Amino acid sequence: MCGIIGYAGDGRDREVLDVLLTGLSGLEYRGYDSAGIALSDEAISVYKSEGELENLESLLDGQEIPSVPVGIGHTRWSTHGPPSDRNAHPHADCEKQVAVVHNGIIENYEPLREELAADGHTFYSETDTEVVPHLIEHYLDEGLDPESAFRTAVSRLEGSYALAAVFEGSETIHATRQDSPLVLGLSEGGTYLASDVPAFIEYTDRVIYLEDGQFAALTDDEIVVTDAEGTVLEPPVERVEWDAEDAGKSGYDHYMLKEINEQPRSLRQCLRGRVDELEGSVTIEELAGLPTPKRVQFVACGTSYHAALYGELTLRERGVQAQTFMASEYDRSSVPIDDGTLVIGVTQSGETADTLRALRQAGRAGATTVAVTNVVGSSAARECDYTMYIRAGPEIGVAATKTFASQQTALTLLADAIEDGERRELLGALRDLPDHVQSILDSSPAKEIAAEYEDAGAYFFIGRGYNYPVALEGALKMKEITYKHAEGFAAGELKHGPLALVTGETPIFAVVTGDDERATKTIGNVKEVEARSAPVIAVTDGQSDVERYADHVLSIPETHGRVGPILANVQLQLVSYWLANRLGRSIDKPRNLAKSVTVE
Ligand code: F6R
Repeated sequence: MCGIIGYAGDGRDREVLDVLLTGLSGLEYRGYDSAGIALSDEAISVYKSEGELENLESLLDGQEIPSVPVGIGHTRWSTHGPPSDRNAHPHADCEKQVAVVHNGIIENYEPLREELAADGHTFYSETDTEVVPHLIEHYLDEGLDPESAFRTAVSRLEGSYALAAVFEGSETIHATRQDSPLVLGLSEGGTYLASDVPAFIEYTDRVIYLEDGQFAALTDDEIVVTDAEGTVLEPPVERVEWDAEDAGKSGYDHYMLKEINEQPRSLRQCLRGRVDELEGSVTIEELAGLPTPKRVQFVACGTSYHAALYGELTLRERGVQAQTFMASEYDRSSVPIDDGTLVIGVTQSGETADTLRALRQAGRAGATTVAVTNVVGSSAARECDYTMYIRAGPEIGVAATKTFASQQTALTLLADAIEDGERRELLGALRDLPDHVQSILDSSPAKEIAAEYEDAGAYFFIGRGYNYPVALEGALKMKEITYKHAEGFAAGELKHGPLALVTGETPIFAVVTGDDERATKTIGNVKEVEARSAPVIAVTDGQSDVERYADHVLSIPETHGRVGPILANVQLQLVSYWLANRLGRSIDKPRNLAKSVTVE
């Protein structure tokens, strides 16, 4: 996830540079690995810098910046190539005839890069994006005008993209999108494009939402939108109702709710290019050459630990010896490690001290190490032998939400890469996963359930098998953001002690998916709490008859047994969010907690 901005103005009302920098600051939540701009007039000038926007601002300070009619900008969340000046956008072609900013992933960049390199193009970055300006240059050299060169180049791209390009000597910005957001803005003082409205809300509230496959040409006084064939369209101009302050959260009250709602997109990104349902195959480029392990150990903390427990189960189901450790409890002297051991560190930030320490210990003892992380260039990514990215995009809310779903999904794919198992049904369920999450987001009664149980003193969460980590995660989320007592249990354990705490005032969230022996046994545990008058909220796909014993139901679509728990968790995230919201908690920054825990 990156942020892009573009502005075409006549220079009367405002400077292009100021608009781009303001826009980038409104988009920094989408990534802050690097920032850059390209200003275009008779020639193109590119300024870019690794790190947060302030680094770019310092670079520009004191320089004579030309006043120009058009410019584009970018704030980066790395996907291909670590954060660096070279990998920062905008990227240009050899002759600097064109500069491009991009949000998304160009899946076929490798063959395109080979083709262009063979044709004499020199590449300066490790990014997938850099093929785009070179491809455009290729078509310019063939004699096409800028718009045709842009369109022809785009027709060769596979993957997701919101793209904007400026051309030397031209006062038009060309843009298009496929599976990445792009919104256009209209004002008296010029026209805008951006990944999200916050980038230009200060200047206008009149917007056009570009659709997949459409193109836009922006000049200071108009935006021409066309379809792939070049037919001019008349898309509706809408008015957005946010004020500038709300806009960083795209209109949501909290980053946490925004991130919960981003899950369909982040899951699509996680799966993109890795699953070929037709072939029935899973390919994780980053793990090419990974040796087949004798045993697997997971090390992780908090939410990532819960995802690791889920990963452990997927491997065990395939007959692989696997075990999960809380990273803070991992001690290489008491666990068997040899060169057949694979140690997988699951860490959103890639900077958690406990997890890094465990990975380092394991690496020194001869294990092969893998980081499953969200942050390109993080310590875990740099230090491990292999890294698999979960591609969830930046998570600003301290409580992990979208990254948990992406970790579970990534670990499902990773398990398949380590040991073949039954596939076709699983891959179909993964394909449907983003849409299934969306259907939950669209219809969840979580807000009403939160209102009903707002006053309870404690909340219990139970689940078996794959639903056990979901129960743990449901309770952790509840604790973190509501400050209320919550516990997650393996459903069968409840009767071995915790049942003593259960009264008519203890809501029990029971996660029951499928209709197998595990579900039947969990329903037995539900009956045990029901007999103690505890209110039961069943999170279920409706396959079993748990609903008969429940006071409320949080429904999830029926799907593969390994995918259902990913969906169930979304319902629990929403309950915690709405409960914390009613209690007026500091949801995005809960007391005493930090997003990245860099002490042991
Ligand atoms: C919970 C949460 C924490 C983290 C934990 C590990 O919402 O965010 O429990 O999961 O601190 O962090 P990472 O995944 O960055 O290693």
